[in-house]
Amino acid sequence: MSQTPFIFFCRPGFESDCAAEIQAFANAYDLAGYANAQPNTGYVRFQLFDAISEQRLFAELDLVDLIFVRQWFWAKAELTGLAAEDRVSPIMKFCADIGIAKSLLVEHLDNDSGRGLSRFCKKFSTPLTIALEKQGLLSKKTPGECAEGRESQLHILFLANDHCLIGYSPLGKASALKGGILRLKSPKDAPSRSSLKLDEAIQVLISNKQRKAVFRLGHTAVDLGAAPGGWTYQLVQRGMQVTAIDNGPMDKRLMATEHVIHLRENALTWMPEKPVHILVCDMVEKPSLVAKLMAKWLVAAKTEHAVFNLKLPMKKRFQEVSDCIGEMCEQLEEHEINYYWQAKHLYHDREEVTVYFRRKMPRQN
Ligand SMILES: C[S@@+](CC[C@H](N)C(=O)[O-])C[C@H]1O[C@@H](n2cnc3c(N)ncnc32)[C@H](O)[C@@H]1O
Repeated sequence: MSQTPFIFFCRPGFESDCAAEIQAFANAYDLAGYANAQPNTGYVRFQLFDAISEQRLFAELDLVDLIFVRQWFWAKAELTGLAAEDRVSPIMKFCADIGIAKSLLVEHLDNDSGRGLSRFCKKFSTPLTIALEKQGLLSKKTPGECAEGRESQLHILFLANDHCLIGYSPLGKASALKGGILRLKSPKDAPSRSSLKLDEAIQVLISNKQRKAVFRLGHTAVDLGAAPGGWTYQLVQRGMQVTAIDNGPMDKRLMATEHVIHLRENALTWMPEKPVHILVCDMVEKPSLVAKLMAKWLVAAKTEHAVFNLKLPMKKRFQEVSDCIGEMCEQLEEHEINYYWQAKHLYHDREEVTVYFRRKMPRQN
């Protein structure tokens, strides 16, 4: 049987970073393959050379481990020239080969033509869901496995209204959201649109359990490079007392909440006396400098949780992020500190990625 591509969604313009990341991931597992990344398409095709490698990649891939990837699946068929009168029947034929799926996503890419397919995909999802359920191919309750022995999510990716890719991902290892995009509404009173970046980061990068532990009334936070206050706003909304460090002015309404202390200090050198529950940082600075600063806070145990942006105006963005995170890990390991990290090119991020580090405290008996 011939090999079929793995599909990875990314922000248009970041295809080469996405491809570099997948290549590095495959290399780490000794899997030989090649990426096909066309600029500004918003996706990458990755093809392996043999069936065993395909199965291994499928088994190892997990969205949480990937930075520039928003969504992924293993394509099993590509259909072109779909007739407008009946697109369901030809698609159903390939879905039957995949087996019973637990969920279905009818998706499009985040490029100009892809966004134009949004209404079409939404509409098409209803007749396809009905047909799949009728044939017993889509069911939350019926136990079912796809060919690789895992519960699966079915993906239909439309590249045009007569052209689609059909495939699947293991349940829980890809995004349950269409295109992997978490759409958020900007609150009317938020001081800046970048407020949404921290909202998304909190929802995507921090687990439910950790969110409950951190965001409590009266808990403390520091926001480095805070002005005008979009990120501070998100922390205040979650009941926190925030120290905002920036030479620039903070939003007046936000200051009137009395949940914020504004210090006109240098965020590269300032540190609190007492530890805070969370540190956030959106400074426009060299990524290596920000990473060093975050490691300093974590090593000094000034916080257990750090959420920060690494701004990436350079070409080799995947390499830069890997180097910065690698440096941080080295620093923490040198001090025998246990940690967890996750990084993501979030939907609301532009030329930057958002990183979350948690310093794991030793368990107390
Ligand atoms: C992208 S803006 C932050 C936007 C903010 N997160 C928001 O949501 O409104 C970056 C900020 O970092 C501040 N900044 C850069 N370097 C700094 C430093 N060394 N010390 C303090 N603030 C700094 C700038 O003044 C600027 O206000």
